[in-house]
Amino acid sequence: MHYGDFQHEIYFGGLKGVRPKWPVDAKTLEARAEAAMSPDLLSYIQGGCGDEFTQDRNVSAFHDWGIVPRMLVDCTKRDLSIELFGETLPTPIFMSPIGVIGMCAQDGHGDIASALAAEITGVPVMASTLSNDPIETVGEALGKGTGYFQLYTPRNRDLAESLVRRAEKAGFKAIVVTLDTWLTGWRPRDLNTANFPQLRGHVLENYFSDPVFKSLLEKPVEDDPAGAVRLWASLFGKNVTWEDVAWLRSITDLPIVLKGICHADDARKAVDEGVDAVYCSNHGGRQANGGLAAVDMLPDVVKASGDTPVLFDSGIRSGSDIGKAIAMGARAVGIGRPYAYGLALGGIEGIVHVLRCMLAEFDLLMAVDGFPTIADLQKSDIRPVHRKSI
Ligand SMILES: Cc1cc2nc3c(=O)[nH]c(=O)nc-3n(C[C@H](O)[C@H](O)[C@H](O)COP(=O)(O)O)c2cc1C
Repeated sequence: MHYGDFQHEIYFGGLKGVRPKWPVDAKTLEARAEAAMSPDLLSYIQGGCGDEFTQDRNVSAFHDWGIVPRMLVDCTKRDLSIELFGETLPTPIFMSPIGVIGMCAQDGHGDIASALAAEITGVPVMASTLSNDPIETVGEALGKGTGYFQLYTPRNRDLAESLVRRAEKAGFKAIVVTLDTWLTGWRPRDLNTANFPQLRGHVLENYFSDPVFKSLLEKPVEDDPAGAVRLWASLFGKNVTWEDVAWLRSITDLPIVLKGICHADDARKAVDEGVDAVYCSNHGGRQANGGLAAVDMLPDVVKASGDTPVLFDSGIRSGSDIGKAIAMGARAVGIGRPYAYGLALGGIEGIVHVLRCMLAEFDLLMAVDGFPTIADLQKSDIRPVHRKSI
C-alpha cells in the first residue's frame, strides 16, 4: 500500500459514477470552503499582514524551485517515514498549529477533530494554546496519535509553567514555542471588520480551565466572561528572549522547538542553546509583511542547524511543495490553512481527505522522480528556476 494509491481509489470510483466528495487540490478546496465559514472566520483564516505580499509569495515562491528527477531507480516500494524526537513517523508531514481550528468545525470542536484525524492518519498535530477544548480533552482524543503542544508563552511564568505541565501530563511529545506572535501583526481584513475572535471570548479554553489563570481572576469566568477576556489580553504575549528559552529548557524534559526562526544566526544560536528542533516559518505571512517567502529562507536555516532537525511551514499547498521543502533539508513539513478548509467542509473526514491528497501527490512525485526514501530525496538536486527574460 502506498499513499499514491489514493488515485486508484478515485479513478475506480469514477467507473461507478462516484466522484471525490471534496476537491483534491488546495485552490478548489479553498473556494468550496468559503461557503462553509462565516465571513468573520473566513477573513481571519484567509487574511494576512499588510497587503499580503509575503503571504502570497510564500505560495508562489515554490514555483521558483525545481527538483531534478532521477531515472532508472527502483521506486516500486517507497518509504516516507522519518524519525522525529525519538519516534518513527509514517510520513514527513504534520498539522501546523491553528488557533481557531476549534471554530472551523461546524460543532465548534475542531481541536478534537484534528486530534482524531492525527490518530487516523498518523500525521502529528500541533495543538495551539488557543483552543476551544482544554488540552487534556485534546490529548485524550489523540489516542495513539502524536501531538505536540504549541505554546504562546504568557507574560506570567507561573501560567506558562502550568500550561507546560498540563501538556506533559496530557501526553504531548514536544513543546513548540512560537516566537513571532507576542502581539498581532497588522491585518487589514480583520481590522476593516474590527474582528478578533479571542477578544470575543473564543478559543480561550486552555486559559479558562487553568488553575493559575483562575487564581488570578477576580470573579469566576461564568460570572464575568468579559473580565476573564481582559485578564487573558493582559497576560497573552511574552516577547520571548533567549533567557526565556533557557528557562523553558530548565522546566521540562520534553523536546523544545522554536517556531519562527528564519535567520541562519538565530538557527545557530538555537542549536547552541540546546533546542531539539528549529522551525522555519513566517506564520503564513500573517504576522509581518516582511517580503521574503519562508521557503526562500529555508536553505540557510537548514545549513545553520547542522544535525538538529528543521521543521518548516508557510505556503505548503501540494505534495510537490512538500517534496521541495524536504529536498531542501526540512525534516518535517507543516500543513496549515488547507486542513482548516478540509475541516470546515467535511469535519474529521475532511481533514483526512486533505492530508491523503497531499501525501498521494507527494508519494507519486517520489515515485516518478526516482526517490524511494526521504533520505534519497534529501540528497536530490533542487535548484532555483532561472526564468528567461523576454
Ligand atoms: C487562522 C490561523 C491561525 C493560526 N494560529 C496559530 C497558532 O495558534 N499558533 C501558531 O504557532 N501558529 C498559528 N498559525 C500559523 C500556522 O501554524 C502556520 O505557520 C501557517 O498557517 C503556515 O502558513 P500557510 O497556512 O499559509 O501554509 C495560524 C495560522 C492561521 C492561518
